[in-house]
Amino acid sequence: MAACLTALLLICAAFGRPAPASSAYMGKDLRNLHTFDHEVAGHVYALDATTLLVTGFKYDGSAPDAYFWVGSTTSPSSNGIIVPDEAGRSQPLGRYDGSKDLILKLPANLKLGEIKWLSVWCKKFAVDFGNVVFGTIAGPAPRDIGAMKPGDHGTQASAITLLNEKTLHLTNLMYDGTSADAFFVVRKSDGTDMKVRDENNSLTKLHAYTGQNVTLTLPESVSFFDVDYFKIGCVACSEAHGMVAIPASVKVPGTLPSSMANNAAPMKNCETLLDGIFNVEWKINGNVIRFTLTGQAEPGTYLSFGLSGSMTATSMISSDAIVAWIDKTTAQPRAMDYNLGAYSQCANMRGVCPDPELGGANDVMDIVGSFKDGATTISFSRRLNTDNELDKAYLTSAYDAVRRLGDRSH
Ligand SMILES: *[C@@H]1O[C@H](CO)[C@@H](O)[C@H](O)[C@H]1NC(C)=O
Ligand SMILES: *[C@@H]1O[C@H](CO)[C@@H](O)[C@H](O)[C@H]1NC(C)=O
Repeated sequence: MAACLTALLLICAAFGRPAPASSAYMGKDLRNLHTFDHEVAGHVYALDATTLLVTGFKYDGSAPDAYFWVGSTTSPSSNGIIVPDEAGRSQPLGRYDGSKDLILKLPANLKLGEIKWLSVWCKKFAVDFGNVVFGTIAGPAPRDIGAMKPGDHGTQASAITLLNEKTLHLTNLMYDGTSADAFFVVRKSDGTDMKVRDENNSLTKLHAYTGQNVTLTLPESVSFFDVDYFKIGCVACSEAHGMVAIPASVKVPGTLPSSMANNAAPMKNCETLLDGIFNVEWKINGNVIRFTLTGQAEPGTYLSFGLSGSMTATSMISSDAIVAWIDKTTAQPRAMDYNLGAYSQCANMRGVCPDPELGGANDVMDIVGSFKDGATTISFSRRLNTDNELDKAYLTSAYDAVRRLGDRSH
């Protein structure tokens, strides 16, 4: 057992996401940190009124008392307050090599509009290692994109507002309901049309509107950054009863997890967890993440990896893990959701237990796999947890993996 546990090698597989592609929405751009000392670097964005994102953060970690520090003076000074690090800790910052993007929550109900700068600040000696001064700014706000001008079928709306990158609000919507095939439609930048569900979550032809205020949410895979215009009309046709253009650079509040998940959607991520022995690939599609594990594992031997319970500590405890193997008897692929409650094997419903043994559900779907030429390959999907926003951030920006190879009988 001891040997098995020491094999629980923990890695921090922050996969060095490069500086965000220019098209990726990261919130309001607050620009690069100025470097004064200790190699401080990074690019700062406001994700919403209380959250900062620092991409590619770098700091050599050699000063004894440095913190993320914000304040409302004209420039960085001792008159400030510590911003807890990406793991919510208020201890001096360690070393950051620039491979990680950090999400920082402003402390104590502080709002972005109440601070003027972010600094990497040495408290003990009151020294500024690097800063960005952004002055008085409002956080990204809902954006009014104008009225929908009167068209046929009495179609019009007095105002259209983008509430965030996926949500649109129509004020005083009018439409007579008699068009043969009118829907809410977005024309994407690639020229294709997609229907948008109405306020009743329906994709059927539109009913009449007599001045209602209606809030619509774009389909899972789409955000306003990929949309040229919104219309009321038919799908894949040029006809529109009402139409409004979506400005090319919309600066609206980001709903963090989905915007990051969307950024990640087209890319295929891959991580070698044990060189030549175990490899994990994953791909996010809308609300679902699909993994493919490949490993040198005989049937009955399992491949497992998980997401750390902590953003940075690569802790195995309370991590969510998926264990997959080829069944020795049936040769069928199996995959199971585990919650690692403690460092011990499953006994009396404690320790490393499959969820169903704890009375939970197995959330793993669409399992396919085989054993061939000494290697096991198993693919499966899991929903990104829509209730817990941090889960998505884990998966897409700070991917801390724990992994494990072992015999099922241990
Ligand atoms: C849709 O919701 C509206 C309220 O916004 C309601 O008046 C209408 O009857 C609903 N229509 C359908 C078809 O459910
Ligand atoms: C829609 O919103 C506008 C502006 O907020 C308001 O004046 C109007 O009364 C609302 N209409 C309905 C039907 O709630």
